[in-house]
Amino acid sequence: MQDARPASPLLTVSDFERAARARLSRMAYDYYRSGADEGWTLRANRRAFRRLEIHYRVLVDVAARDMSTTLLGTKVPFPILVAPTAYHRMAHPDGEIASSRAAAELGAIFTLSMLATTSLEDVAAASDGPRWFQLYVHKDRGITRALVQRAEAAGYRALMLTVDTPVLGRRLADVRNNFVLPEGLAMANLVGAIPADGVERKGSPLTAYIASRHDASLTWRDIEWFRSLTRLPVLLKGIVRPDDAVRALDCGAAGVIVSNHGARQLDGAPATIDVLPSVADAIAGRGVVLLDGGVRWGTDVLKALALGASAVLVGRPVLWGLAALGGEGVARVLSTLRDELSIAMALAGCPNLGSLDRDLVRVAHP
Ligand code: GLV
Repeated sequence: MQDARPASPLLTVSDFERAARARLSRMAYDYYRSGADEGWTLRANRRAFRRLEIHYRVLVDVAARDMSTTLLGTKVPFPILVAPTAYHRMAHPDGEIASSRAAAELGAIFTLSMLATTSLEDVAAASDGPRWFQLYVHKDRGITRALVQRAEAAGYRALMLTVDTPVLGRRLADVRNNFVLPEGLAMANLVGAIPADGVERKGSPLTAYIASRHDASLTWRDIEWFRSLTRLPVLLKGIVRPDDAVRALDCGAAGVIVSNHGARQLDGAPATIDVLPSVADAIAGRGVVLLDGGVRWGTDVLKALALGASAVLVGRPVLWGLAALGGEGVARVLSTLRDELSIAMALAGCPNLGSLDRDLVRVAHP
């Protein structure tokens, strides 16, 4: 007998995750979902948001809300960006083309991962939306230099260098699943940079690739070298300490992403929202401070902005939207978070981002 009830609507990021899980292979879902080791940091990212209360103000005129801001010269209508995540075509055949178009439709900045399954040029050709490019430094510096030049030539507006991955964190589900990229998919930005015998088909493509290619000896001195490669602003992603944040700016970075790589690297790393205030204080307006890790609700965005971030990035939520409904799902996830933020700002007595101050957010009593 057919069930006459309509399917329950996808209203929240969790609804999209459930729908994505139903559509993805076990291997793909586990890859996106996993944190490192026992998942302590994965849980901490969420737990830390849940511990924070919003001490709202009343009787403020919030009839019109302005969520717009300017990030490294790009005006965006709301402070939520797409985080770099690998392998979008594993979530949906339209992959990064669909996710970048969905971000462009909403005016959101799309950060393309170096580990994308679509080339950075093809993504650039797919829309006119604002785009940043994320990458790692390779042992073979020629590969890094070439990626930087390609990103500049294709109109990417900033480079995000991930600095928390000298080696890949151990994601146990991927090891147990013998994770491999599905047949027909490739790390499209690195074709040619990987020998034909390829590391891609041996074990986890990512572990093998990073172990063989990434430079685990990278230091602050290399950041100055990296900075010298480009006229684009450089952001360092994966910072959880104020002293590292200051060092990043001293090396010429335009800002930092307070991030623990979606809890996929060092298990035991702190929740990003917990370390954000000290990083923001250390940066003291000298550069941009963004945050990712565990953002699942508009109220999380509000908390991060109140505690010192200029904007947040979302990674897994975008993948859940993409897997559930393709590009439409990505647009719906981003617009859901945007609309939740708008409601949260109204209810907290905040008509614009400038009115989100630290006094609004306090740690709940245990
Ligand atoms: C890639 O950077 C990953 O975390 O899987």
